[in-house]
Amino acid sequence: MVAQIRSAAEATGEYRDMLIRLMTRQIYAETATAEVFGQAITAAPTWEEKHRLAVFTLEEVQHSQGLVVLLRDLGEDPEAIIAARPPAGEFWAIDLTKWIDIAVFNFVVDRAGSHQIMEYRHSSYTPWADSQEVVLADEEEHYGTGIQVLKEFARDTDRFAKFKVSFERVLPNAVKRAFGRPGNAENEYCLRVGLKRHSHGQILNRYLDEMKGYMGSVGLAFPPMSAFEAAGVEMAERTKEIVLSLQ
Ligand SMILES: [Fe+2]
Ligand SMILES: [Fe+2]
Repeated sequence: MVAQIRSAAEATGEYRDMLIRLMTRQIYAETATAEVFGQAITAAPTWEEKHRLAVFTLEEVQHSQGLVVLLRDLGEDPEAIIAARPPAGEFWAIDLTKWIDIAVFNFVVDRAGSHQIMEYRHSSYTPWADSQEVVLADEEEHYGTGIQVLKEFARDTDRFAKFKVSFERVLPNAVKRAFGRPGNAENEYCLRVGLKRHSHGQILNRYLDEMKGYMGSVGLAFPPMSAFEAAGVEMAERTKEIVLSLQ
């Protein structure tokens, strides 16, 4: 049983450093996603889509703001942290003016973040863990839309061909951005102090297995291994097996 850390004052030394590293990764993802959805309002083809994106934008802004408060409590400067992130489109490897990229983003990227949040919800740092319940509920809805959008694109051969091209670029980048690297010291430390409950490989495999469940039925395959290598993704053997099982 790992010790729970119930306040910023109790988070010290190596634990505090790791906490800030993980929260920085999450605030990068949340703020970049807020900006993607916000700008996607312009690219969206229908009013219904624009309205939905405005709602998602607010939710991602609220997820980001929760982290702003937590980071400030820890004595950090959230503005400086956010300012160091690459621009949103570049960060997620998408063209913000293309609706097809936004659709792929909705299916791929948001869910990758959710699988990390599932870990943070049970984190030993309770101010963070407690705040992630609401975040995860919002993300379930975002993913529901992602799956719906995938099915719509799959019905039109021409549009689906474009979807696949974008998917091959966005997925490997999302794996790199959202999950980090396997088998490093960070991973072991996070498990030991309860900042995460599962290893890098377990979390990534859970995500890919879930994606595969929706992809197979519409005829979407994983990008070739070379696309992951080109994006600088490192994978454990079990992860490679999942990718190779649907090509
Ligand atoms: Fe979010
Ligand atoms: Fe989301």
